[in-house]
Amino acid sequence: MAPKITTADAAQVLDVSVQAIHKKIKTNEFVHKKSQNRIYFEHETSTKLFGFKFKRQVVSIQIVKGGTGKTTLTHAIAVRANLYGARVLCIDLDQQGNLTQSFNINAADTPVMVDILEEGMSLSDGIVNVSSGLDIVPSRIDNATLDNTLMLKRINLQKVFTKLLEPVKKNYDLIIIDCPPNLGQSVSAATLASDLVIIPVTPEQFSITGLKLSFQEIANLKESFDIKNIKLKILLNKYDTRTSLSHEVLSSLIQNKKYHKNMFKTYIRISQEFPNVTVNRESIYESLKTTSAKEDVDLVTREILNLKTA
Ligand SMILES: Nc1ncnc2c1ncn2[C@@H]1O[C@H](COP(=O)(O)OP(=O)(O)O)[C@@H](O)[C@H]1O
Ligand SMILES: [Mg+2]
Repeated sequence: MAPKITTADAAQVLDVSVQAIHKKIKTNEFVHKKSQNRIYFEHETSTKLFGFKFKRQVVSIQIVKGGTGKTTLTHAIAVRANLYGARVLCIDLDQQGNLTQSFNINAADTPVMVDILEEGMSLSDGIVNVSSGLDIVPSRIDNATLDNTLMLKRINLQKVFTKLLEPVKKNYDLIIIDCPPNLGQSVSAATLASDLVIIPVTPEQFSITGLKLSFQEIANLKESFDIKNIKLKILLNKYDTRTSLSHEVLSSLIQNKKYHKNMFKTYIRISQEFPNVTVNRESIYESLKTTSAKEDVDLVTREILNLKTA
């Protein structure tokens, strides 16, 4: 995987001319490449060129329903944030290990979350490097017992991930947790360790039911653990301008006050590019052509990182 960001994108986010970016790259001799008249660079150059100071945060992506894009969006947002210079750690909690596979990581011989908890290891024992500034704690089928482990060992749900993350937190700007499609102990623990919970919903009836359940569950957690606020944001995914269902779901979200005030400004349009890149174990930022998938994920990532979005 070799994700790229163009100088045109850099100019846009910094609100300067492309020429100014080219000049900065040349003067400082930053590593860059050229293809079809476009100049692009990777994470290493981003850290120097942008010099963004990120507010450290832990984000979890969750909803009880499968197939709404948790893994796809975790992958794409992680890569985009990394291209803005953020040091990113992904944590795959889903026993399916789809995120792990999409990063082309083999989790057979490396500790996953359930091993870390069972054997009292530290999180860094499970961290695998994917590419420059991008790491993952992978997952495999053994994480199927993660919820049981958390329950049987009577592990404090509120502290378990926060404690595990503490020693590695300083190494990352963004920690992003891909959750399994349930409301079990591990998802609760992820929620309790998160600064932001992202709930991706798709224009389907069951997706809205899932959204309702997630809101309810988070309200329950707030009550049980006496927490003032858990920040959550709804991300509409697979939006299809051609279908009335997409319009209906979007307007029903907007009409619901509780949902409306917790929505991302951007939504992610349906795009074949997402499944296509997964098959090739690539990211949507591998190619340089402008696409809706790249644009949408870019805007969402900027909202998360608090980078200029106008
Ligand atoms: N915006 C989108 N447009 C088209 N396909 C998408 C989009 N988002 C996700 N997908 C596809 O939907 C399927 C399920 O996505 P996935 O991320 O695995 O969901 P989850 O992790 O919530 O189960 C995958 O095949 C993925 O490529
Ligand atoms: Mg998934």
